[in-house]
Formats: sequence, C-alpha cells, structure tokens
Amino acid sequence: MPRRILHDKYFLLAKEHGYLARSAYKLKQINHAKSIISPGDTVLDLGCAPGAWIQVALELVAPEGGAGGGNGGGDGGRVVGVDLQEVRRSFGPNATTIVGDIYDLDPAVILEPVGHPFDVVLSDMAPSTSGHGDAERSAHLCHRVLQLLPHLARPGANLAMKVLEGSEYKQLLDHTKTLFANCRAYKPKASRDSSSEMYIVAHRYRPPKS
Ligand SMILES: C[S@@+](CC[C@H](N)C(=O)[O-])C[C@H]1O[C@@H](n2cnc3c(N)ncnc32)[C@H](O)[C@@H]1O
Repeated sequence: MPRRILHDKYFLLAKEHGYLARSAYKLKQINHAKSIISPGDTVLDLGCAPGAWIQVALELVAPEGGAGGGNGGGDGGRVVGVDLQEVRRSFGPNATTIVGDIYDLDPAVILEPVGHPFDVVLSDMAPSTSGHGDAERSAHLCHRVLQLLPHLARPGANLAMKVLEGSEYKQLLDHTKTLFANCRAYKPKASRDSSSEMYIVAHRYRPPKS
C-alpha cells in the first residue's frame, strides 16, 4: 500500500501562507467552485479547530483582513467557530470561538455573537477515527447539523459539510437535497484521493414548514 505523503503541496502552501492547516485549501477550493461565502456574510464553522477554515472564511467575509492573517476588520462579516477542542489562536474582532459539543450546545449560545441566524453554515467535523463505524458517525454528525439548521441558518443560507462516504451517505445526500434549492457532492483537489471524505455543498436553504 502506498505511504501517505504528509508534507504534500497543500501542507507546504499552508505553511508558506500562514494557514493553521492544509485544510484551508479545501475551503478555498469549495468556495472557488461553488461560491458559498460572500463579503459581509455571517459564517458558522462547526468543528473549527485548529482554525484554518476560520482564517479562510474571514478573508472571504471581510477581505481587507489579508491572506492567512485572518484579522477580519471588514464591515459586517463575522465568523463563529465551534469545536470540542479549544482554539488557541485569536482571530481578531470578527471571529468568536466556542468550546462545546454540537450534540449538547444550546443554539442560543451559538447565535449570541451575531444575534441572528447565519448566512452560511460550514461543517468540517470529523469523528475521532477508530477504523470501525467512522462513516456512520460522520453521517450522524451531518444529520445533527441538518437538525440544527432551523435554529441556526436563515432561509436562503448556504451549507458545506464534510461526510465520510459509507452506507448512509446516499440517504444523507438525498435528505439534504430536500432542504435546499440546490445541492451537490463535491471533492476538492486538496482532499486526498485516499480519503473517503466528500463535501455536500448546498445553496439556498428552504426551512421545512413546521
Ligand atoms: C478535521 S478537524 C477540522 C479542521 C478545521 N476545519 C480547520 O481547517 O482547522 C475536525 C474537528 O471536528 C471536531 N468535532 C468532532 N466532533 C465534534 C462535535 N460533536 N462537536 C464539535 N466539534 C466536533 C473535532 O474536535 C475536530 O477539531
């Protein structure tokens, strides 16, 4: 079996440009291909540690923050990150991070920094890998994201969420399609060929009528 190249092109690019992880390039490529984040947007980043997606999202919502610096500073745009782990880096006034488990957190706590439902919801959450049932736990995290959307996303919001392809993948994709005007699976080039990860990218949230 070929050995995984740890210090690949995206690792080196991330180091050179000051991003906290190579995953920064996955979000850049998703946004380049699918236009999910615009200047001025409020973005929720679920599973945000160590913070590379926060850096990229800040550049997109508040562009004058500068590449990799993630200082924000533009008008309106804000990013709120949530993770089980504490994010050690501070990203300036336009970003807030919350430590917590998305199965337990009160949505009101997540909304508090922006005061209204988000324009964009991102999830790069991944279960701690055990080699057994990882894809199912990944799909479960995604279903939790969909369950939280009525509380956290405005009608018309966009979504990008990671899922490990497995037996529940198709049902998850089909379910997500019912909630958005447009929904597709997308694998950015920065996602390793050897990984079963896929991103479900959806535009224009249509909350279910209760
Ligand atoms: C691949 S990392 C995210 C990398 C991040 N997008 C970045 O670019 O820096 C996945 C993260 O999901 C988080 N996570 C997994 N399950 C979670 C849960 N139930 N609630 C909140 N975060 C969770 C993990 O703690 C981990 O930090």
